[in-house]
Amino acid sequence: MNAKEISPVVKRGKFITFEGIDGAGKSTHIAGVAELVRSHGLSVVSTREPGGTPLGEKLRELLLHEAMHLETEALLMFAARREHLVQVIEPALARGEWVVCDRFSDATYAYQGGGRGLDKRKFAELEQWVHGHLQPDLTFLFDLAPAVAGERIAAQGRELDRFEQEQADFHDRVRQAYLERAASAPERIHVINAGQTLVDIKKQVEETVINYCL
Ligand code: TYD
Repeated sequence: MNAKEISPVVKRGKFITFEGIDGAGKSTHIAGVAELVRSHGLSVVSTREPGGTPLGEKLRELLLHEAMHLETEALLMFAARREHLVQVIEPALARGEWVVCDRFSDATYAYQGGGRGLDKRKFAELEQWVHGHLQPDLTFLFDLAPAVAGERIAAQGRELDRFEQEQADFHDRVRQAYLERAASAPERIHVINAGQTLVDIKKQVEETVINYCL
């Protein structure tokens, strides 16, 4: 192969995830980060879990609205994730695009581990199987008292999914599990006080993305 035939090396994209209890207000900031990255001339794929692929979205519908065994719930989360990785996340990163994702495996540790009380060691095995080679480059954890988050959701006046319908102690456990996970990976997981103003949160999130990834 001569020099002309050597294709330019594509710089792998960055993978940023957003986490937090329901109602913590991450959506606005996910769109903001995608916009920030685009403004630097980079391509971004904005996606979510569970979901992000045609099959994953069907699984999402079941996960959010259909009663099922706790372990089935956890396994379906990882099944949807495997499909998402293979179809969307890994190809985009390999093409040099950035991926911003609304929730990833930290959510399974928090909701199915903390909330539902399943053994987190099982998730470590599944995590290794499904994405042992890949972790997000950066994760934002939007932290908020469940009572405040609950008020925000109630103010939206929409129908609640299976997780949002859970009692306050469920959301307390999810929050606690998220904070424990953040403490175990402080380099990757940045805790954002989601009780601040939108402007302050936006500033903090954007500065972190610029410092860590751009
Ligand atoms: P989300 O997209 O934040 O809901 P909304 O569209 O209402 O903003 O998340 C969907 C729900 O799925 C959320 O309640 C958390 C739950 N979930 C888990 O329980 N485990 C997981 O692994 C993931 C990815 C999500």
